[in-house]
Parts: sequence; C-alpha cells; structure tokens
Amino acid sequence: MIGVIFGPPGSGKGTQAARLESERHLKHLSTGEILRAEVSRGTLVGRQVKQIMAAGDLVPDGVIVDIVRQRLPEAEQGAGVLLDGFPRTVAQAEVLDEMLKAEGHSLTFVLALTVPEQELLDRILRRASVEGRPDDTREAISERMHEYRKLTAAVLDYYRKRGVRIEEVDGTGTPDQVFGRIHSQLRL
Ligand code: AP5
Ligand code: MG
Repeated sequence: MIGVIFGPPGSGKGTQAARLESERHLKHLSTGEILRAEVSRGTLVGRQVKQIMAAGDLVPDGVIVDIVRQRLPEAEQGAGVLLDGFPRTVAQAEVLDEMLKAEGHSLTFVLALTVPEQELLDRILRRASVEGRPDDTREAISERMHEYRKLTAAVLDYYRKRGVRIEEVDGTGTPDQVFGRIHSQLRL
C-alpha cells in the first residue's frame, strides 16, 4: 500500500502521518523532515536547500526525486508507505508514477486534508512561538501558501484525471477527531 498524505502547509500532514506510522505501521516518508535533517547535518544537499527552504520556496524537483528514489525501495519493505510532502509538483507526480510502475506498483490512495486558510496560519504561528522552524515566519508562510496554490494544488487534479482514489478529509478539530475521520473514511 502506497499512499500520499496531501494538503497545504499546516494542514496536519506530519501529525497524522506520525500517528498512522505508530498505530498502523505505515512508513512515514516526509521530504520536509528529510531535508531539515540534511540542513541540520550540514550536508551538501543541506547547504544547497537551506536558503530555499527558509524562504518558503520549493526545492528543485531533481533534488527531491533523488531523495525519494534512494529511500522508497527500503520504505516499501514494510506494511505500507505514506508519502508526506511529496509529490508537490506535477513533474514529481509523473516521476513517482514511473518509479512505481517500474516495480509493478501504483498509488493506492491520496488522503487530502482540508483546513481553512486562517486556521492554517494560526497553527503555524502557534508552532513558530514554540519550535522556531526557520520557515515559520510570516513572510515564508505566505510564500509556502503561494507555492502550494501555484504548483502543488494541481497535483490533486493530476490524480483526479488518472482516476486515483482521492479521499478528502476534514482536517479541522482536534488531531484525535481528524484521525477518527481518516479511520472511518479510508478504513486505515
Ligand atoms: P514540509 O515540511 O512538507 O512543510 P509544509 O508542507 O509547509 O507543512 P508543515 O510541515 O508545516 O505542515 P503539516 O501539514 O505537516 O502539518 P503539521 O502536522 O506539522 O516542507 C517544508 C519545505 O521543504 C517546503 O517549503 C520546501 O521548501 C521543502 N520541500 C519539502 N518537500 C518538497 C517537495 N516535494 N518538493 C519541493 N520542495 C519540498 O501541523 C502544523 C502545526 O499544527 C503543528 O504545530 C501541529 O502540532 C499543529 N496541528 C496539527 N494538527 C492540528 C489540529 N488538528 N488542531 C490544531 N493544531 C494542529
Ligand atoms: Mg509537515
């Protein structure tokens, strides 16, 4: 089973994916977390992407595709994989399709979390005051939202046209309530 957890910045992708990993044993593959680890370790990739991420812009497709290509085969060894933050452009979605096709696999579902924009902003600003993620500034948040609308939202249409199962889940309420909806809508 290979699923994508999809949604704008702050919609709860990471929160719900972590829970699906611990309770449903779906391997959580977050490109954002992988990149943040590269930045904090000061690797070559980390140094390439640090400023881009801090500004809230998307990292080049080639960098992301290399990361996923390296990690997907191992992740696929378990009960299932949940991709978080990838694919984020139609070009990335096309590459993912090719990667899966080459192994005789295909995407099982897309879980799309929907949350009103004001709530997204409130959540990220709340996190900014405790965690200090470099891209949780007002300016970078606005750029992340802009990138989402400009490049990422189209990924959902890409999958819709291809007849992939898309489950839109209301991402408001407590994390427990959202998890309950995921469970009842997707039977996960
Ligand atoms: P990424 O790390 O993917 O960040 P994002 O999509 O901007 O989203 P967040 O991680 O902020 O939000 P989330 O939806 O995971 O929600 P979360 O659970 O954290 O990407 C970061 C950057 O990396 C990108 O901007 C780009 O530069 C680069 N990048 C990554 N992948 C890329 C790709 N494929 N291509 C190109 N570039 C890429 O929740 C948010 C907050 O709300 C948390 O504090 C949480 O505790 C809280 N919260 C969660 N659920 C609830 C709830 N139900 N009620 C109240 N609060 C809640
Ligand atoms: Mg996240």
